[in-house]
Amino acid sequence: AKVRHLKWEVAYMHWSPDGAEGVVMGINGQFPGPTIRARAGDILHIELTNHLHTEGVVIHWHGIRQIGTPWADGTASISQCAINPGETFVYRFKVDKAGTYFYHGHYGMQRSAGLYGSLIVDVAEGEREPFHYDGEFDLLLSDLWHKDSHAQEVDLSATPMRWIGEPQTLLINGRGQFNCSLAAQFSNSSASQCMLRGNEQYAPQILHVLPNKTYRLRIASTTALASLNLAIGKHKMVVVEADGNYVEPFSVENMDIYSGESYSVLFTTDQNPSNNYWISISVRGRQPRTPQGLTILNYIPTSPSTLPNSPPPISPQWDDYSYSKSFSNKIFALTGSPKPPTTHHRRIMLLNTQNYIDGATKWAINNVSLVLPPTPYLGSIKYGLKNGFDRNTPPDHFNHSYDVLKPAQNQNSTYGNGVYMLNFNTTIDVILQNANALATNVSEIHPWHLHGHDFWVLAYGEGKFTEKDEEKFNLKNPPLRNTAVIFPFGWTALRFVADNPGAWAFHCHIEPHLHMGMGVVFAEGIRRIRTIPVEAIGCGLTGKMLMKNNVHK
Ligand code: C2O
Ligand code: CU
Repeated sequence: AKVRHLKWEVAYMHWSPDGAEGVVMGINGQFPGPTIRARAGDILHIELTNHLHTEGVVIHWHGIRQIGTPWADGTASISQCAINPGETFVYRFKVDKAGTYFYHGHYGMQRSAGLYGSLIVDVAEGEREPFHYDGEFDLLLSDLWHKDSHAQEVDLSATPMRWIGEPQTLLINGRGQFNCSLAAQFSNSSASQCMLRGNEQYAPQILHVLPNKTYRLRIASTTALASLNLAIGKHKMVVVEADGNYVEPFSVENMDIYSGESYSVLFTTDQNPSNNYWISISVRGRQPRTPQGLTILNYIPTSPSTLPNSPPPISPQWDDYSYSKSFSNKIFALTGSPKPPTTHHRRIMLLNTQNYIDGATKWAINNVSLVLPPTPYLGSIKYGLKNGFDRNTPPDHFNHSYDVLKPAQNQNSTYGNGVYMLNFNTTIDVILQNANALATNVSEIHPWHLHGHDFWVLAYGEGKFTEKDEEKFNLKNPPLRNTAVIFPFGWTALRFVADNPGAWAFHCHIEPHLHMGMGVVFAEGIRRIRTIPVEAIGCGLTGKMLMKNNVHK
């Protein structure tokens, strides 16, 4: 194992991710940020300098559990203070488990601003993956708005709320086409054929393959909003990894991927080698107003500029939820993976609702809409700062009589920033309960992501969860994940062990939903943390405390 030293500078820069020039957040002049490649057991040492002129920044390492380094999780107000302009913060942590991960901004809506990149962890030296492949590619999926993220924040917080609408473009590795279409020849819209030289910032990244080989595709979605379906024209895929955990291999023609998820799939180049093939991503779960994102699978020696001779894959209907559920229900842990404890110590039921607060639209969990405090929880809890956040514990349950199939009778909600304090080393069940949103007959998909842990996905179900649904829990081979979706009007049951001292976000990975309050904070074992690096907590009440020099190392 090694220590890998990286020096990064975050800055806004002009870029044309889809052919229309805008401003994105880049790292070292790159968009998306540089891909990190490491081996399991390595230490990443990243010196991050904030070159934004007037805005703080943090970076979260999505899927890395930060065992023993909770201050390196990169969540503003939770694990650390935002890094001020001109300042440098060192993220130093171990990547303990091989898998496909990514990183992204976790302050305001900086992920929407384009602050993201891939993080790939290979197996440790001398170890082998439980499957074979000849080559691999890495696809980081995202969505792009032409309106900048600050304007989006203002819109979403306005009274009445102004919804940001659907993305203009889907991006694959930061590249998409807004002004033209790669597949114009097949579309009946007026889209013009892209005339690309190949060196444009928005030219697709073409995947060059040899016939009769097996490739691994690492796919991660950091979309702000879009749920996606990915397909490779005429090729089947075998899913082998999800969120950095091996799964029992299964074969699919296309796959759903929600924001915050990552997968590895294998495919074999067994098709006619004198053609090229489309790789497509399409919007699911919301009525699509965004064209498919496309790139090309190029069979060497066919020319990479030869367009495929058949149209891009047709994705399932956007609202075919039973199709989506059947995909999710095919995911099981690879035989031999760690099994969940058979019982739980505490069950937290989290009702997801859309509400109004003083006329503004919010999302709330058990009727609390999260607003982050100025002092990072990690410091407030560690140093017992009573005013760091709301000391009333948020509720573990919601009203039994709540009808999840109808709009709420009382649509009002309240702001809060309390913490779910978990007893160290206990087993926690979380039941995420979806409900009707503000409008009748509307319930949305929400991909929930947990920091600091993986969880087992025990079951998905319809309607309101009841105690007897426990019978449906899969305790035999449930997949370990860090992100799981709740389907419209349904529930999802998760289990994890609170064994990682720290303060951890658990939230919907849809960026505007989180901005509108859709998250909670868990904390466990904080007393076991010996020292928090002062650089992480030099703001808010912990900042004042440090100034008074009340802290001795
Ligand atoms: Cu990828 Cu809290 O996020
Ligand atoms: Cu959501």
